[in-house]
Amino acid sequence: MKSIISLITVFAGLTTATPVPAPQTDTTAAGPYHISGFFASKAHLSSYCRFEFNITGPTLSGPVSCSAYLDTGFSGATWLAYVYQGVGNCNSDAVTWTFWHPRGAETDRNDAVFNVTVDGVKGTYVVPKEDIFVNLNDEGNPFDNDVSYAGPREFDITDFPVEE
Ligand SMILES: *[C@@H]1O[C@H](CO)[C@@H](O)[C@H](O)[C@H]1NC(C)=O
Ligand SMILES: *[C@@H]1O[C@H](CO)[C@@H](O)[C@H](O)[C@H]1NC(C)=O
Repeated sequence: MKSIISLITVFAGLTTATPVPAPQTDTTAAGPYHISGFFASKAHLSSYCRFEFNITGPTLSGPVSCSAYLDTGFSGATWLAYVYQGVGNCNSDAVTWTFWHPRGAETDRNDAVFNVTVDGVKGTYVVPKEDIFVNLNDEGNPFDNDVSYAGPREFDITDFPVEE
């Protein structure tokens, strides 16, 4: 009998605790964009960079795969290739992206900016310079430098700049 009463009490408690839906305070049109498998690397002894990632977002019906394969112009580059608007590929027309890693001297590393636009809404993500690994390999050979992204492969883009 005691267990039945306590069961009823628990049940009553659950009923009264039914949450009233909180008002939506979403201030962005879309997002966050979830990035997974992010890869960016300049091949050894080559000037070419490969980029790959998958993205999911609130307006996308499923994951979209994106990639790019681009020339930095120099096998001794200490920066990743500039993925300008229009050269990044995705298997959905809803998604476009850019990646800009400013060139710096060997000792002067820079942050990179990764922008992803989904259905016309641009999200932006700063890749800290600490997450871009540069290896000069052979100090005597200026044509043999490796550059690769070494940060988390999975992250969210939550910054949606309002264009002026
Ligand atoms: C993207 O997702 C597909 C399907 O799950 C998977 O095969 C592919 O390896 C992923 N790409 C990356 C860069 O993680
Ligand atoms: C990425 O977005 C930022 C913020 O809006 C902008 O300043 C920058 O020019 C964009 N980068 C590219 C390559 O378009």
